[in-house]
Amino acid sequence: MKKSRTLSQFVCQICGNPSPRWIGKCPSCGEWNSYVEERVERRKAGVVEENWRSKPQLINEIEGSNEQRISTHIGELDRVLGGGLVPGSVVLVGGDPGIGKSTIALQMLDKIGSSDMRTLYVTGEESHEQVKLRARRIGASSDNLFVFAENSVENILEQLVKLSPKIAVVDSIQAIYTEDFPSAPGSVGQIRECAAKMMQYAKTHGVAIFLIGHVTKEGTIAGPRVLEHLVDTVFYFEGERDHSYRILRAVKNRFGSTNEIGVFEMQETGLKEVKNPSEIFLSERPIGSSGSVVTPTLEGTRPILVEIQALVSPCNFGVPRRTTIGIDSNRVSLLVAVLEKRAGLQILGQDIFMNVAGGVRIVEPAIDLGVSISLVSSFLNKPIQSDLLVFGEVGLSGEVRGVSRADLRLREAEKLGFKKCILPRINKDRIKPSISSISLIGVNSIENAIEVMF
Ligand code: TYD
Ligand code: MG
Repeated sequence: MKKSRTLSQFVCQICGNPSPRWIGKCPSCGEWNSYVEERVERRKAGVVEENWRSKPQLINEIEGSNEQRISTHIGELDRVLGGGLVPGSVVLVGGDPGIGKSTIALQMLDKIGSSDMRTLYVTGEESHEQVKLRARRIGASSDNLFVFAENSVENILEQLVKLSPKIAVVDSIQAIYTEDFPSAPGSVGQIRECAAKMMQYAKTHGVAIFLIGHVTKEGTIAGPRVLEHLVDTVFYFEGERDHSYRILRAVKNRFGSTNEIGVFEMQETGLKEVKNPSEIFLSERPIGSSGSVVTPTLEGTRPILVEIQALVSPCNFGVPRRTTIGIDSNRVSLLVAVLEKRAGLQILGQDIFMNVAGGVRIVEPAIDLGVSISLVSSFLNKPIQSDLLVFGEVGLSGEVRGVSRADLRLREAEKLGFKKCILPRINKDRIKPSISSISLIGVNSIENAIEVMF
């Protein structure tokens, strides 16, 4: 009896790990109940697809193309891209629903279209009319911007070949499917296959393609981390829903540095660039209130001053609460433990709420000292001078460790009129006094910092 050529396998919808039978917990990413049956077509072993055939070549004989970047005419976006779009590259943009992915994509295509380049916006989720409504809001009026509502990759590719735009956006990768792959749209297999097809088109035609992806509750681009390996660049578009600020962050970039961020504000008429984020993040700072500290963080090469707020209040019953927004709560717990043990503050039993004003999220350890000082300030109910700045990493024995690029951080603070800075001693010793007019106070431990400040 002849065996059928299609067979099925189970695939983890989070990381794409396959298994011949259903299992409850993915051995690769640890997710529970993430396996879904997908049909696969058996490919003949040893057959290489024609397009991928290539010969080894001497490195000296390879013609290095002079990378020509296309400006998106959105400064903040160009910055994150590393100086503009690279033709033939594929960018994956992830973010929560409603954060503004479609908006930024349409704005970019409109701007590029206005500079006489043909662009195509493919939408798998909305109708032409819905896209038009958004376009009206943001004032898109380019004569080179095409809109195409379609879900089939084959049809999209056909139109791409016909129109031959320079830049195309597919919104979203989860909404499109290919007929070549038997499993359901939105499954890992489909997403991977669709992305691979778009990728191949981008590379062979020198077209820059943006793929938009939704984010799962775990914060990874839905389903496939596999996609992140495939594409050239991965961006996350983030921000708190109730705030109007949005941050575009590169987490992978084959053509530029990662950790660069672009800051935008969502307004009635679309996303507007924020050129001086520090000024905006500090604009509503309460003066003379305890628990508020300004700390400079570094995002890529760009220093941004943010306000950290802490509220420490006695816990009336049960387990003390720890609520943090914009900072890792484990990090806060660690710093609270250090304050209790090394600085002798009885703070462990208190309710603690922490927030980074403006809806920014910070992961850098350089904010440790700022977080600790804001906790102490709230605990003691003693406000901190408004022209004072704090930064430094804090270790488990309460030591204050040096951070990178202290000079950049100080220069930004100087611009905004700060006069005094508490920083790691090792950073202070390395900085030439001539570099800034801010008076520097070096500390080597958390007790030392508290002593100096309170
Ligand atoms: P959208 O780009 O549709 O988000 P995504 O594609 O990431 O799901 O943006 C949706 C939100 O942005 C929606 O709540 C409305 C708001 N918005 C504005 O505030 N101003 C605007 O000009 C536009 C186009 C959207
Ligand atoms: Mg959208």
